[in-house]
Amino acid sequence: MAEELTPETPEESTEEQAIKQRKNGLYPGVSDELAENMKSGWADTELRDLAPIAQADKTAARRAALSARFPGERLVIPAGKLKTRSNDTEYAFRASTEYAYLTGDQTQDGVLVLEPVRAGGHQATIYLLPRSDRENGEFWLDGQGELWVGRRHSLTEAEQLLGVPAKDVRELAAELKEATGPVRAVRGHDAGIEAALTDKVTAERDEELRVYLSEARLIKDDFEVAELRKACEATARGFEDVVKVLDKAEATSERYIEGTFFLRARVEGNDIGYGSICAAGPHATTLHWVRNDGDVRSGDLLLLDAGVETNELYTADITRTLPINGRYTELQRKIYDAVYEAQEAGIAAVKPGAAYRDFHDAAQRVLAEKLVEWGLVEGPVERVLELGLQRRWTLHGTGHMLGMDVHDCAAARTEAYVDTTLAPGMCLTVEPGLYFQADDLTVPEEYRGIGVRIEDDILVTEDGNVNLSDALPRRSEEVEAWMAGLKG
Ligand code: GLY
Ligand code: MN
Ligand code: MN
Repeated sequence: MAEELTPETPEESTEEQAIKQRKNGLYPGVSDELAENMKSGWADTELRDLAPIAQADKTAARRAALSARFPGERLVIPAGKLKTRSNDTEYAFRASTEYAYLTGDQTQDGVLVLEPVRAGGHQATIYLLPRSDRENGEFWLDGQGELWVGRRHSLTEAEQLLGVPAKDVRELAAELKEATGPVRAVRGHDAGIEAALTDKVTAERDEELRVYLSEARLIKDDFEVAELRKACEATARGFEDVVKVLDKAEATSERYIEGTFFLRARVEGNDIGYGSICAAGPHATTLHWVRNDGDVRSGDLLLLDAGVETNELYTADITRTLPINGRYTELQRKIYDAVYEAQEAGIAAVKPGAAYRDFHDAAQRVLAEKLVEWGLVEGPVERVLELGLQRRWTLHGTGHMLGMDVHDCAAARTEAYVDTTLAPGMCLTVEPGLYFQADDLTVPEEYRGIGVRIEDDILVTEDGNVNLSDALPRRSEEVEAWMAGLKG
């Protein structure tokens, strides 16, 4: 990519400054004649009569619920800004979950504002960067000009797609500074918007907005469920891709697995929903192993925890622990089957009306029983559970809500999440595991360096649950047959 013709300070690229700088000769090689020439000769590409996005009625309903929760208050929900990686290179942009949930839009710099209206309710407006101006040279002389970053939707196009009036985001900070009345904003995404609101918001009230938007996502609507299904199906194909190239991973490293899964995520979706954990051998005992730079060896296990994020930003979160050579050893199978049994007990506890904690307790009980049976911890099981002694090897909770964020609804209050009862439309992972660290002297040597987790994405239904990730086998013998079939 050639270096841009822009000044180093992007905030200076307003119309006035761009023209002034150009005249002052700050763009060497841009003659007045070229500047003049670049203003015209461009076709009208405005898109007309656009149909609304597929989830437009859902985002409208979500905004209506938000409006009802905070009557009379101005609500500001930014998409976020690009984050610099170095100089003029940025990290890939991912819109804030709150903004995407309420608009269906994912445009950087966008801001949704709900302004209270006298008659009651709110008027929603989406603030976006409009098409680049050709007259003032912005479109080719500004780092965010469309010549550099690609065509944006015009404000009129955005209105048709999103079903919300759209305005120029460059006017928003001034509007917010002038605004009167109570305001709440979602923090952490747009420092410019926060600066404009400094005197008007409090951390405590903003937190209430964040908590509401987290809790609103606890129950998924049918659009969201369809997205989660899509994410799980694409993820299953990504796991199959990995199995097919295990020999190449053996010849290189865990990175081959990471790259293979990433290809599927980018082709079928927006991205991976979180850093893929491609943990071979003893790395499986490191819960967040994302370095993925280790050897892949026949005879070891591969713990693969990965998820495709769809283009609408819903992610799967699936783990399978696979024998790299296609066959579990006797001990690997014993541990794997114990985790499978625990997961079965956990999944069976996922149903409407059950306490959220039930599936965790059910899975932990099975794991504690196994650890006592194997002589790794002294029973009885009740004592182990009471003292939490199994946790040396079970390490983490048995699951979490899943949705746009892998650990979805994370700002929800305890009473709305971990102390609540399950309801249809909730989606959660059930992911027990057993991990014997390579340096754990309390277990027989042959256990050391073995880590097993099985993770599935479970939707609570009216009469029980559905496993959204059941395209991937879980029973040890079924995993082996599936791998054999893929390797041909
Ligand atoms: N992949 C992160 C988790 O399972 O929670
Ligand atoms: Mn996971
Ligand atoms: Mn998980």
